[in-house]
Amino acid sequence: LDTTATGRVALTAQSGLTRFAGGAPSTTWGFNQGFLAPTILMRSGGLEATLDNSLDEDVTVHWHGLLVPGEHDGGPHTAIAPGRQLITPMSLDQGPATLWYHSHIHGATARHVYSGLAGVIHYTDGRDDARGLPSTYGVDDLTLLLQDRRFDPEGRMIYNPTYADILNGLLGNRVLVNGQPSPIAGVPPGLVRLRLVNGSNARIYSLHFNDTRPFHLVGTDGGLLPAPIEMTYLPLAPGERAEILVDFSQGPAPVLMSARGLSMTVLRFAIDDTLPVRISRVPDRIGDAIAPLVAPDGIITRQISLDMGGNSSGQVQSPGHQPSGSMDHSGHAGHASHAGHATATGPTGVPIHGQGPAVSGLIFDDFRINGRAYRMDRMDFEIRRGTIERWIVSGGGGVEHPFHIHGVHFQVESSGGGGPPLAQNSGWKDTVLLSGGASSLIMRFDHEATARFPYMFHCHILEHEDAGMMGQFTVT
Ligand code: C2O
Ligand code: CU
Ligand code: CU
Repeated sequence: LDTTATGRVALTAQSGLTRFAGGAPSTTWGFNQGFLAPTILMRSGGLEATLDNSLDEDVTVHWHGLLVPGEHDGGPHTAIAPGRQLITPMSLDQGPATLWYHSHIHGATARHVYSGLAGVIHYTDGRDDARGLPSTYGVDDLTLLLQDRRFDPEGRMIYNPTYADILNGLLGNRVLVNGQPSPIAGVPPGLVRLRLVNGSNARIYSLHFNDTRPFHLVGTDGGLLPAPIEMTYLPLAPGERAEILVDFSQGPAPVLMSARGLSMTVLRFAIDDTLPVRISRVPDRIGDAIAPLVAPDGIITRQISLDMGGNSSGQVQSPGHQPSGSMDHSGHAGHASHAGHATATGPTGVPIHGQGPAVSGLIFDDFRINGRAYRMDRMDFEIRRGTIERWIVSGGGGVEHPFHIHGVHFQVESSGGGGPPLAQNSGWKDTVLLSGGASSLIMRFDHEATARFPYMFHCHILEHEDAGMMGQFTVT
């Protein structure tokens, strides 16, 4: 979906029926299609997005990684009601990167993204060739949206989180790439760029090839790196993106694997000698130099702690716990099929929404940032536009949390409680996996978000986010 010529993009949230690998049909959602969404090509300049909703509950389109004002960011305050249209004029100005977009209704983001309301954005400046980066879409420049999903024995995709699934984030029993189970990618026998997007609700991938061949990291969330970084093993947490260059000129076609807990096949490759090889060696220089942000005197430093567990002792509450003032976990979707309906509801397919054991409401206050669960009507921070801040972020509960901030790209100064940033956290980031101690992030807030349309910051394990591990701030 190329927006560069027209300056327009039109997306309609809709429902579809999808059979995965010949299994029973599943009700799925997508933008402009029955499951998932088109890849959008964007460039700097004006872009008008026309967003329609033909589903029967509110949705949003959040542009994850796009630097636009809060009003156009597609967070929970910009819900599009069923049958309504939202026209969003945006002015884009940032570097080339792989971004993505997804629905972001508070309390329903996990179910929406899982159902398919997610797609990828290629933000480009048209200079990939000059940088020596492969850029023929679908040939030597592959977009890979990684999402694990849970399938029942008949092959239906189901979303049935238990309390344990909320605690850990819901993990699937199959990895889909671009919505395909057991995918195979045909590649030319040369250098290929893989744009990896972790669009999973909760799964952290540890990507590597079965023959342990090295590859080069050339881009992270916010854009290209100045120079490639060689690696054999790449962790990718929900919300994160990475661009890598892989050389397929040698040896039998490898398999992209993920080893974390159990080892899983993510994507098989087949070498296709009829495809053109346009670039054969990894360039030495790629993107613009990235100057480290310098902390000004008296920099505002915020301590941010992602907490889980039902009480101050850090104990996780049992599912029977009923916090006061709890809100229905399904949020706006009051009329959607609801938790507790474990049986098929029609001859044509089973809604994947809300089946399985009830989890509604029970867990809402068990997930917090700085001791407080998210509230749409509470402002957590007010930030002065143009200022540089340092956020020291740590995660608790024995789970690694991917921490994401809207409206800004940050640099990771240190992680793991003071160690140097990991290779995969080089460059500009908008999501970072918190593991082994606090991470220090530094960023400048250049874009405006008013109290009416604030920016979010949250854990990108979507079940955690929906259950309250989110906050919001203004930039004025
Ligand atoms: Cu990818 Cu607040 O989201
Ligand atoms: Cu985002
Ligand atoms: Cu989390």
